[in-house]
Amino acid sequence: MSTKQVITVFGATGAQGGGLARSILADRDGPFAVRAVTRDADSPSARALAAAGAEVVAADLGDAAAVARALEGAYGAYFVTFFWAHFSPERELAEARTMAEAARAAGLRHAVWSTLEDTRRWVPLDDPRMPTLMGRYKVPHFDAKGEADRLFRDAGVPTTFLLTSFYWDNLIHFGMGPKAGADGVLEFVLPMGNAKLPGIAAEDIGRCAHGVFRRRDELVGQNVGIAGEHLTGAEMAAALARALGRAVRHVDVPPEVYRGFGFPGADDLGNMFQFKRDFNAEFCAARSVERSRALNPRLQSFAQWLEGNASKIPLS
Ligand SMILES: NC(=O)c1ccc[n+]([C@@H]2O[C@H](COP(=O)([O-])OP(=O)(O)OC[C@H]3O[C@@H](n4cnc5c(N)ncnc54)[C@H](OP(=O)(O)O)[C@@H]3O)[C@@H](O)[C@H]2O)c1
Repeated sequence: MSTKQVITVFGATGAQGGGLARSILADRDGPFAVRAVTRDADSPSARALAAAGAEVVAADLGDAAAVARALEGAYGAYFVTFFWAHFSPERELAEARTMAEAARAAGLRHAVWSTLEDTRRWVPLDDPRMPTLMGRYKVPHFDAKGEADRLFRDAGVPTTFLLTSFYWDNLIHFGMGPKAGADGVLEFVLPMGNAKLPGIAAEDIGRCAHGVFRRRDELVGQNVGIAGEHLTGAEMAAALARALGRAVRHVDVPPEVYRGFGFPGADDLGNMFQFKRDFNAEFCAARSVERSRALNPRLQSFAQWLEGNASKIPLS
């Protein structure tokens, strides 16, 4: 019989949870087993996790009873919400409440909550520097996660608050890769001036979370910010040019122009980049690369991530 302690991983078929599930499963002699949560246990990615040794369970974050069942008997859990699947900060808050209450009821010994800053602590709603969105947010997909931190605290759940960073994988999956400008030269748009963007390979987020679990109580109650590297738009463009073998120039646009780009969530992302630019020192300081590497010795730099991924970036 296995004596391993179960970690329930939400989003196990996705980027963050997938990295954690794979990291735990690869650590065959380690102390943890994976209970992978999916809405569809028959999907190819869920089957792949089962084949690799995970227990796969079905639960939707909207179903409190199913979330509670997914936590039964678990030592710990990785909790993440999926803003870009629905664009609703209120739904993220409701799902975080469901998770925090279920974690308390299950008596979890360690929760890792994938969170971000509540930017309204820096930019109150009446601050005119950036527009208020959806009535009560500055950066909706950040603010609700940060607001939800207190749900875990108030429930008395032993929680590590994992402050994630911009996935470099957004260049592949989120339309943020360089595109040819009018003169044919690739342009990498990052509306942050000369400020540095903490970035990370999505796979490394879960690996860092695994490092947090391995440290047991050491990081309970703490904010742990993670990043693979902090780079300016010009530095990212230069790394892209080296990896692609083509010229790439950084294009800076004012946040208000970015907000008007018109794709879904452009206003939210415009505010986000402005927040990261205007509070850059503090935002970067909250995400130590050295500490991230201590949690995850395989942590990739942008150049290392590009070695394996540059060919996957759509350039048109
Ligand atoms: N992109 C970035 O740069 C970035 C940076 C920092 C933070 N984030 C945050 O990361 C979060 C998303 O995490 P991710 O990238 O790991 O997600 P993801 O790769 O899109 O994975 C989502 C997975 O979660 C499952 N899922 C979706 N809705 C669910 C629900 N209602 N109940 C249960 N499971 C559900 C899906 O699995 P099944 O289909 O198998 O159920 C899916 O595979 C977002 O909130 C975003 O704000 C993103």
